[in-house]
Formats: sequence, C-alpha cells, structure tokens
Amino acid sequence: MISNKIEKGINGDIKIPADKSISHRSIIIPSISNGISEINNLLMSDDVLHTLDAFKSLGVKIISEDKRIIIFGKGLNSLSKSKKNIYLGNSGTSARLLTGLLSTQNFNSILEGDHSLSSRPMNRIIDPLKLMGAKFNKTSDTLPLEIIGAKLKNTNIEIKIPSAQIKSGLILAAINTSGVSKIIEKNITRDHTENMLSSFGADIDTKKIGSETSIFINGKKELKANNIEVPSDLSSSAFFIVAALINKGSKIFLQNININPTRDGILRALKKMGAKIEIKNQRKLSGEIVADLNVEYSNLKGCELNAEMAELMIDEYPILSIAAAFAKGPSLFRGLKELRVKESDRLELIRLNLNKCGCDCKIINDDLLIKPAKIYNTLDNNIRTDFDHRIAMAFAIMGSKLGNLKIEDSNSINTSFPNFVDTYNRSGGNIL
Ligand code: S3P
Repeated sequence: MISNKIEKGINGDIKIPADKSISHRSIIIPSISNGISEINNLLMSDDVLHTLDAFKSLGVKIISEDKRIIIFGKGLNSLSKSKKNIYLGNSGTSARLLTGLLSTQNFNSILEGDHSLSSRPMNRIIDPLKLMGAKFNKTSDTLPLEIIGAKLKNTNIEIKIPSAQIKSGLILAAINTSGVSKIIEKNITRDHTENMLSSFGADIDTKKIGSETSIFINGKKELKANNIEVPSDLSSSAFFIVAALINKGSKIFLQNININPTRDGILRALKKMGAKIEIKNQRKLSGEIVADLNVEYSNLKGCELNAEMAELMIDEYPILSIAAAFAKGPSLFRGLKELRVKESDRLELIRLNLNKCGCDCKIINDDLLIKPAKIYNTLDNNIRTDFDHRIAMAFAIMGSKLGNLKIEDSNSINTSFPNFVDTYNRSGGNIL
C-alpha cells in the first residue's frame, strides 16, 4: 500500500473499531461462565477471530451475527479437548491468556501460531505457571506448546516482567484453582481482566500500595453470565489522533473511546507535547471508563517520558514516534525494552523506518531518541513492517506528511483494524 501526502488534514466523526484487549476477554470469560452472555460490538479482526475459533474448538457454543455474538457458557470446567491444534495466528494475547486457562483443564492442548507469534517468548507465562504446578511438554521458549492439563495449587506469585498478558494468564489459571492465589505486580498494567471478572461475579480483590498491586483470586467459584458492550479502542484511535495533530486543518471527533487509566498513557504523553485533545462525556460502559474525544491540529513540542509510562501505553510508541518526528525539539522515550518482543522488534523498526524517512532517530540502550528535521527528504520510501500492524499504520500516518511511502506487508493491519484504509481515506487520508 502507498500512503500519500494530504493537504487539508483529516476531518469529521471517525468510527474507531472495538477494543482488541477487551474483545479477547469478552470471548474468554463468558465461555467459562454459567449462562448466556450477549456481546455487542466485538472487534472482528484476525486476532480476535482466532480467539473465537479457539473457544469453538474447545466445545463452546457461540453464535455470531456480525459484531454481536452470543456465548452459551457452561462453567469453569465445561471446556472439552480440541480435536485439532489450536492455531492463534499473530495473537500474543490469545497465546498467553489461553496458556493460563488451559493449564488447569483436565485435558491436554497444543497451541500454535504464525511465523511472528512462533518467535515470541512464552517462558514469561510458562515459568510463573509452573510455580502453581502447571505442566508443559516443551523444549523451547516459543510456540508450538503442548499444555498438559493439571490441578494447580494456589500460590503467591510476583510477576517479573510488567505485562497484562502474563497477569491475565495467571488470573485465568487462579480462577480455576482452589484457594486464594495472590498475584503481585510491581508496575501497573491494563486491568481489563480484573474488571470483567468482577462483573461476572468472580471473587477477586485488588489492593494497591504505592505502585505495587496485589490481586487476590479465590478460585473455583463459578462465574455468572453477563452482557458486554465493547468500547472503541484507544490504541486504534491513536493513529487518527496523531494524524489530526500533525496535519494542518484537521479536526476530528471520536466517540466511545476506552480511556481506562491503566492504558491512557498516549493521551497523557500527547497532552504533555501540547496536543489539543478534549475529553468529554466520561461515563462507564460494561465496567470500563469511556469518553468522547475532540482533537485538532496542534503545534507539538518534544517531550521526555520515563520508563513508568511504558506500561500505560506500550502499544502506542510507534505512532507516538511519528508525533515526535513533527514536534518542535527532540523527544526521549525511556525504558522500551518490551518493544523488542512485540509483533516485531518495534524499537528497531521505528528507528530503521524513521531513518529511511530522513529523521534522526537513535536507540540508546532501551531508550529512543528522536530529533525532528525541519523538512524531511525520504532516503528510502520502502517501509519495512515485518507484518506488524502497528508499524504499518504508524508509517501510513507518516506518509500523510511525506507522501509516496510504500508500506510493505500491510495486510497485517487486519490484526486489529480491518477498515483502517477506508476509515482513513473517508476522513481525508490518501492511501492507495
Ligand atoms: C495486551 C497487553 C499488552 C499489549 C497487547 C495486548 C492485552 O501486552 O502489548 O497488545 O490484551 O493484555 P503485554 O501486557 O505483554 O505488554
């Protein structure tokens, strides 16, 4: 796909698709609850469809009608052995969460993924699960992975790597384990699993002391079905927010965006850079905080972000880096080690592609330094994405300023935002 320059900015009401993290959980949690749950506005992207197929192959009755699905849950131990290996495509969230959940079942499962997912680390979830007595048949840190279903023991576990995927995998194991398990996280990560489990009647309690959070899960208590309305995804909206901020004449309105405070780092960072973002109509929707956003073209200035911000906006650094490339003055983003093990090595691809665009960008240890240029002269217009959806969308927005950027392997965008190109072009973008 080729992303071309735009002259009049992007404008209007923009429909952002449903939240990917909440969509995964909206399939997983109702599938192990008792009763019928109706889920509205589910994200129908490749990643989420892999989770949906996984639960169908684990014997759960699910009826889908467009973005509305009905799940007939039969309880914590109602899943049955899949007749085939469970293929999760590109989805790290499905892999980590399902590893936790399936480790407590009375059958074995084999998880597989695509080329990228098969190179991403799994020990981060396997090792803490082993402390609970989970069993695996494996020789490497990556998928494919055979999970040997077992009875686990309630345990106190401190999570070593800040990750909502690890935390959620452990919670889903604890929910089907007798007794109280305690999971301690030193850094705040997104809490959608905890929120949704509470609204399904789980015995789960969270205590915060400073930046440390302890989650207590009293397992083997059956969950009660509930209906869910999935809000729009802040991570997906970030591409449009930045497109509006860096293109003169832009003014956009985004409705029903999830602004959960464990995930809103991108809004805080952009505001620090001088972004005109108005957050209106804050309200609760299915246990999550949502709001409407007005965003307009702004004169951005560079900023420094410390490592603590990373967990609050881990998926947004590719697009934040584009904002930084058009700000006044340099930006320094600290503590980005985890970006190396996402759908691609995002730290390296941000540097490489910004350099191709003529922007001075360096990696110093785990930090990213971006020095914007006054005028950009593209040195190489082939943007390498390694099939990473967020790198593809971020550099598509870079193209709105530079023109003629060829985004390689852009099909990956279906992972999280199937209508990205149409939505962008209808608002004033120019992607061919
Ligand atoms: C996710 C958590 C994050 C994020 C991913 C979705 C989730 O990963 O990068 O896109 O849904 O829990 P980590 O928690 O492993 O950083």
